[in-house]
Amino acid sequence: MKKALYPGSFDPITNGHVDILERASRIFDMVEVAVLENPSKNPLFSVEERVAMIREIFRGKPNIKVGSFRGLLVEYARKTGADVIIRGLRAISDFEYEFQMALMNFKLDPSVEIIFMMPRVEYSFLSSKLVKEVYSLGGSLPDLVPEAVDRELKKKFHDSGAG
Ligand code: PNS
Repeated sequence: MKKALYPGSFDPITNGHVDILERASRIFDMVEVAVLENPSKNPLFSVEERVAMIREIFRGKPNIKVGSFRGLLVEYARKTGADVIIRGLRAISDFEYEFQMALMNFKLDPSVEIIFMMPRVEYSFLSSKLVKEVYSLGGSLPDLVPEAVDRELKKKFHDSGAG
């Protein structure tokens, strides 16, 4: 039984994340999405909202679980019995940050294993940050985010009268 952890902020989850998760779920017996609880990052969605959206998207996929964590990722990986941590790598620009994080995680726990997966090309330029910017300015990206995320972003930005 091989279990992978897919950590991130997921504020909100995009189709790029979904692509990686679906592919990872065909490689591993179980994949847990680990949503970072980090109020200092000033997230748009609360942890509960992010977890609820991800649960809705993967309802009916028994080997994709959703949890949240605070503190060190390697400790959460150990606590949950994960064999591997998965991270997505979109472009060269992601590499330096991911490399630094991977080396720090190795330092903290030399037994940790980290695997990088490339998203499909149509999601290579996609980021949660730009998605939020587009919706905040009145646009929408139904091809790039799951339905639940499109709905919740519209609730936050379009239905509030906030612009
Ligand atoms: O989606 P993100 O924001 O790129 O995800 C970043 C994440 C959650 C993987 C990273 O911030 C993280 O692992 N945070 C937990 C704190 C930690 O373990 N830090 C030390 C290792 S760099």
